[in-house]
Amino acid sequence: MAERVDFTLNGSPVSVRADHPHLLAALREELDVTSPKDGCSPSGQCGCCTVHIDGKAVVSCNLPLAKVAGASVLTLEGVDVDERQRYADAFAACGGLQCGFCIPGIVMRAKAQIDKKGADLDRGGMAPHLGAHLCRCTGYVKILDAIESVAKGKTFQPALGSGIGAAGAKYEAGELALGDRDYIDDMRIPGMLHAALRLTDHARADITGIDTTAAAAADGVAAVFTAADIPGELRVGIIYKDWPIMIPVGGRTSYAGDVLAIVVAETRQQARAAAELVEVSYDVLPPVTDPLAAIEPGAELAVWGTEDNVLSRSAYARGDVDAALGASAHTVHEIFQTQRIEHAFLEPESSLAVPSGAGTNRRLHVYSGGQGVWDDRDDICRVLAVDTDVVTVELVSNGGAFGGKEDMANQTHAALAAWMLDRPVKCTLSREESFRIHAKRHPVRLEYWAGCDADGLLTGVRVRAVGDSGAYASVGMKVLERAAGHATGPYHVPAVDVESIAARTNNLLCGAFRGFGANQAQFAMDGVMDRLADAVGISGWEMRKRNVIRPGALWGPGQLMDDGAAGAEVCLDSIKPAYDAAVSAGKAVGLGLGLKNAGLGNGLREVSGAVVRFHGDDERVEVRHGWTEMGQGVHTVALQVAAEELGIDPARIDVIVDTTRQLGFGQTTGSRGTLMAAGAVQQACAAALADGCRPDVDYHAEHVVDWTAKLGDPNHPQPTIHAAFGYAAQLVIADRESGKVERVVAVHDVGRAVNPLLCEGQIEGSVHMGLGYALTEDFPTDPETGFPTFSTLRQLGILRAKDVPEIEVQIVEVPQPRSPYGIKGVGEIGLVPTAPAVAAALHDLDGEWRATLPMRAG
Ligand code: FES
Ligand code: FES
Repeated sequence: MAERVDFTLNGSPVSVRADHPHLLAALREELDVTSPKDGCSPSGQCGCCTVHIDGKAVVSCNLPLAKVAGASVLTLEGVDVDERQRYADAFAACGGLQCGFCIPGIVMRAKAQIDKKGADLDRGGMAPHLGAHLCRCTGYVKILDAIESVAKGKTFQPALGSGIGAAGAKYEAGELALGDRDYIDDMRIPGMLHAALRLTDHARADITGIDTTAAAAADGVAAVFTAADIPGELRVGIIYKDWPIMIPVGGRTSYAGDVLAIVVAETRQQARAAAELVEVSYDVLPPVTDPLAAIEPGAELAVWGTEDNVLSRSAYARGDVDAALGASAHTVHEIFQTQRIEHAFLEPESSLAVPSGAGTNRRLHVYSGGQGVWDDRDDICRVLAVDTDVVTVELVSNGGAFGGKEDMANQTHAALAAWMLDRPVKCTLSREESFRIHAKRHPVRLEYWAGCDADGLLTGVRVRAVGDSGAYASVGMKVLERAAGHATGPYHVPAVDVESIAARTNNLLCGAFRGFGANQAQFAMDGVMDRLADAVGISGWEMRKRNVIRPGALWGPGQLMDDGAAGAEVCLDSIKPAYDAAVSAGKAVGLGLGLKNAGLGNGLREVSGAVVRFHGDDERVEVRHGWTEMGQGVHTVALQVAAEELGIDPARIDVIVDTTRQLGFGQTTGSRGTLMAAGAVQQACAAALADGCRPDVDYHAEHVVDWTAKLGDPNHPQPTIHAAFGYAAQLVIADRESGKVERVVAVHDVGRAVNPLLCEGQIEGSVHMGLGYALTEDFPTDPETGFPTFSTLRQLGILRAKDVPEIEVQIVEVPQPRSPYGIKGVGEIGLVPTAPAVAAALHDLDGEWRATLPMRAG
């Protein structure tokens, strides 16, 4: 075989090594062409790496280099400047991107179609061509808007939003659309090495030996590290420090994502090849994979270093549920089972650590895509046994997260290797490793007993829930606590008795995922509502209207709802015309009504810091805040708040998140980023204005929420569990002939939409995710091994563009008291009511009640 392969790249001849596994690796690793992104190489299933070869759009990550010899390859870097601008402007103006990771590939696919069909290309014609692409953020609606606009020759001049309520472009939208804004894996540092992780072969096994000799001697390898090399703490974790970053000899593995060694080499390919040469000896033990059996007394301990398979138990009760159910005109008893779900953010986890200085001036700069860079910094410092001023963690806005990047994946591994070698080290996970390592959405078994009177008014609800939290704690206890709190949905129930357990097993870890326990609970509670409505003989809408939570009423755990709660009924009333029209048209319909907390609540003191700083040497204004930009638009929120308060051109503003200031207090989670960032930036701007906006001064301010109480606390009979909630009603309309979901109407009360374009995009994207959750998505594990059954994106069952029904979004604004600008948050609520609405529509189709997700798998 020839040692080099020649082809034309963007009009110029190039020659690359022939040993790259595919074209994408040659482009990215040797030629430093990074607009094609790597979301799943070498499986060819996400489309992020799409380029043109001789004018045709193809995915480059499964294309052998031999097939490219002599061909003409075009990437976005080589597209005509004006044409690039047209795509960038259209995607920015239409809100056609969120995290942006999938977009450069989609632009290349769109260009191939527009080159061929010109103005004849419309969204219906384009959608099937997106079958080779996945977007986990947008629901494709605005992507197709943007592509159709380019095809029709429409031009835009997108601008950043200049204040609250402006539907401006997303911060960095143009650069993201063209693949010009670096994600971590796109970054190159002189002298940089690559790390690969050696994962366990068994979910539960004692490690009796790790032999790194062959790996250390392999081509290009600089070092191999094991747990024995860790200078500080072995274990990390957001809440409990129970997650070993590597399993030592003498230790025990607890899940398929456990790391045994880090191999560092000159190239990624060398590091990966050598990682396979690390030899591990095991005493294999049977994994504990049944969560119900795991919490039985006397069950074998699942997780190394823990003392109990019950990670948490959340419980509260109000009123006499037995009496209430006994006196009810109608009762229902149902067991609901939800499934494990993979986040499938398009950018696999990547971390880069860069050391500098010497002696007491040694420092480490870590680039992280995590959802809480201050937590990352603190745990990295514990592992390295250094003070927190030694390590700076800088956020690089990531390619999607949805909760799956709260725990660290490989930040400590990159940091450890860089620190030990005194060289920059990057570690990027493969898709399969990403599947194994990060926490998923919990499968939860929810048993409900519920009743109502003859008029359909709820009388009592009892819930017993068990979630499979996998091995390490992550935030699993909080997810099951949230499921408990949200167990009765947005309804008033006089008597409630709820218990929710998070079980430790040797299955894949479960933790934060958009909705955070509320989705599972809502699927069950709205299922109960529809069964009771049927028994009473009233519609699903009427049942909800009679029971909806209102200001001044007691919600589930006893919270006295404030005026913000009026949003639930406003959503319900706003969706009524569409509901009635669909029923009149003879369609099968299903309705869901959901609420989702904004903020962690549960008695935690939540603090969000921000800094505003005017540069003395130029016109730039820094806005620093504490929240991770992961596509949801929190940087844009910070920018628009600053523009509003300071009255300046938003184009002057740079938004920055790093640990050089102490601005972060936990994870970007709980739909709180918009609310908390807006509050902090608003107050930092006020401080700047009060002081005349002097140059090179940090104007620092904090937004604090400190008036919530813990779930089930007997000292608080009417606890304010959460300071704010978002509300949503969603209508799912299915065609009786085809059985297909043809339209979703989503009415959302967001309190105040800082940027309605981005807000709408959030809702469309989460409806897409919610439909997948309801119908097709799953991520099972093998009960014999605890390992995932699936290893590729296609197996997950994520809906492709052509399968997404029409999504109509209506935003309503019922302001939240004590919240900046009345903001409620929208990050997670978008898929809370979707699955039960689908279940109700399917019941309307065929009369079958469904209690298990997904409902149309396979
Ligand atoms: S990276 Fe090539 S299709 Fe996903
Ligand atoms: S914008 Fe498509 S995956 Fe994030």
